[in-house]
Amino acid sequence: MKPSLIIRIVVPALLLLCGAGVISVDASEASLQFLEKPRIFLLTGQASQYAVSVNQERELVHLWWGPRLPSADYESGAVLPSANRTGWGENPQYLEFPGWGEWRYLEPALKVRFADGVRDLRLRYASHQIDGDRLTITLKDAHYPFAVELRYRLLPQFDLLERSAVFKNTGDQPIGLEQALSAVWHLPHLQAWTMTYLAGKWGAETQLRQVGLDQGKFQIESRRGATSHQFNPWFAVSEAGRAGEEHGEVWFGALAWSGSWKIAAEINSAGRLQIAGGIHDFDFTWQLKPGERFETPVFVGGFSAEGFGAASRQLHAYQLAEVLPRPQARELRPIIYNSWYATEFNINVEQQISLAKKAKDLGVELFVMDDGWFGKRDHDRAGLGDWFPSKTKFPQGLKPLTDAVHGLGMKFGLWVEPEMVNPDSDLYRAHPDWVFHFPNRPRTEQRSQLILNFARPDVAGHIFQVLDKLLTENDIDFIKWDMNRHIMEPGWAGVPTTQPKEVWVRHTQAVYAILDRLRARHPRVLWESCSGGGGRADLGILSRTDQVWTSDNTDPLDRLLIQDGYTYAYAAKTQVAWVTDNPDGINRRDTPLAFHFHCAMMGTLGVGGNLLKWTAEEVAQTKWFLEEYKQIRPLVQEGQLYRLRPFVVPPSGGFGDNGFWAYEYVSPDRTRAVLFAFLRSSQLGNDLPAIRLRGLKPEAGYQVEVRQPGSAQPPTAVQTLSGATLMERGMTLRMRGDYLSALVRIAEAK
Ligand code: DGJ
Repeated sequence: MKPSLIIRIVVPALLLLCGAGVISVDASEASLQFLEKPRIFLLTGQASQYAVSVNQERELVHLWWGPRLPSADYESGAVLPSANRTGWGENPQYLEFPGWGEWRYLEPALKVRFADGVRDLRLRYASHQIDGDRLTITLKDAHYPFAVELRYRLLPQFDLLERSAVFKNTGDQPIGLEQALSAVWHLPHLQAWTMTYLAGKWGAETQLRQVGLDQGKFQIESRRGATSHQFNPWFAVSEAGRAGEEHGEVWFGALAWSGSWKIAAEINSAGRLQIAGGIHDFDFTWQLKPGERFETPVFVGGFSAEGFGAASRQLHAYQLAEVLPRPQARELRPIIYNSWYATEFNINVEQQISLAKKAKDLGVELFVMDDGWFGKRDHDRAGLGDWFPSKTKFPQGLKPLTDAVHGLGMKFGLWVEPEMVNPDSDLYRAHPDWVFHFPNRPRTEQRSQLILNFARPDVAGHIFQVLDKLLTENDIDFIKWDMNRHIMEPGWAGVPTTQPKEVWVRHTQAVYAILDRLRARHPRVLWESCSGGGGRADLGILSRTDQVWTSDNTDPLDRLLIQDGYTYAYAAKTQVAWVTDNPDGINRRDTPLAFHFHCAMMGTLGVGGNLLKWTAEEVAQTKWFLEEYKQIRPLVQEGQLYRLRPFVVPPSGGFGDNGFWAYEYVSPDRTRAVLFAFLRSSQLGNDLPAIRLRGLKPEAGYQVEVRQPGSAQPPTAVQTLSGATLMERGMTLRMRGDYLSALVRIAEAK
């Protein structure tokens, strides 16, 4: 039987040609279908497929997520709903969007409380709509006036599926949401699963970790009202021992939310894995008044049959093409100078202009003044909330500095921390009730600061106006939005007793709304997300800010580890890395300048040292590195990343075997590539193993620059080799010593 409705998804040619759209797609094969007789929704990507069906009871049940299956098998009824045939204690079928109720014990996607006290959901298929690449399936409760819209957006060129849900109160009584996740992903029934995730702490974010899943639940989460340094809302699962960097099946997902969140992987007693994720239900309820709706953040999921490397590239390409704000998404990120580590709070206009001159001389394109420029901000105990230039440090306002920076031909950027207030500030003295706090309880300070409650429209409105004024009255090209502590004591004085637990979500929604409004009013401004380093890096913030300050830790060896993990989820263009003074702050490790630069050049490059103290030799070398970065920048920021020798090697989860790491970025047309290699220490006089490149055209001839490892000198020779040789035999680098690094440029011979 022919499917009754097939929507072919036409992938815009631009997507295929731009830097992001590097995965070739046979657009005619990707489709969003409704097979009418078996009542199956079939979402087919380039190499993946996702299927759900409506069963006899009009429940929406999950059918399949994985490699493509022939549609004839769906038509014939051979692909059956997954079922738990043990039948004890769990619903025998896997509901696509399980509400809590009936005989279901696993993590639900949704839990509600109706006005009469009933807390049991029976969602039944009501209708659906297909519109281009989007499918909406509407479910309704069997009795109560409550509807759920399940939203799917198929991105076949990336083998990704965006999922979210909208909950609607269609009656005349309030309905309480007690859990409102974005999606539950059901996995094929395999023998044993490994989950890969990102964990860490301040100064040590996004480290790759792996855990073997077993019956029960493993959850990564944030209960802090921000994305967090501890876990990042990204996961990948694979059959235990069967997937690596370049091979094997990997299912993965990332959540577009910057408040409290959770991703819970749960294996039931029948051995089936589901992964539920969305806004955290911890300390959460939401009062859905008659006629109101609640929309969850997007939880994007994907499938790769070619290991973790391909899974990352799918996410990277998606971010560049679909997530990052436009038009900046398509523009190369400028080289930053940020004065924070050089000066901390001890700044003034003359000193910043001196630094700007030095930065310009190096080749910097964007000069950013960090913390310390406003109010009475002479230390971290005062000033937050008073977003006007310090009268002593900038007696004539910011104009002399912005003019000087622009006069030098650079863009000007400024640091703000809008959600925060120091008790020692004019703002707090005027509005002590604006911060999160519970009555009869102390207001716990961290870094001497409290958090403004953006759930209050008056507070969010004030901050929007202050930032809008700052951007209107000053010539500012870039804002770094910081958040140096996370939420605790989320008291919200004066709201009805049914609503205080909405505060977590409302705060994040308000941050988003402020950013959206400011972007609309000041569309040329570039934004950086920071939260004491990488505490707010996720797809939600990346749809509103152009890049992320990945970590306060700038030690290159630590950074290699942090950046390595970051690349599993996020594109290189979004991660900012500065070269700061040597030795760096955290480990006091002494490493060569080239090692610093090569590490930082693998993302959006910045310089953050005290340039007033750099030697003539350091300055000369830095100029060279910045010039080189400008030449390879399109490759790094828009190319495809191959982790040739990653820091952490799935599936073992152990550290790279011998402290020798390599990453390659390849242009979308495969004519150019750049290789970065890092050696911690040579040992026993051993030669390094060959590095096998990836992503080149086997038949093409490539010119490979040869140069002294670790050197800021031009290449000494050029060798021509075929893509096949570079990928099969590989390249051998001769490195002897400690903390050595190499950058090798490869270009197709004309
Ligand atoms: C934390 C950030 O990560 C740093 O880069 C710097 O902006 C400080 N905050 C300023 O307080």
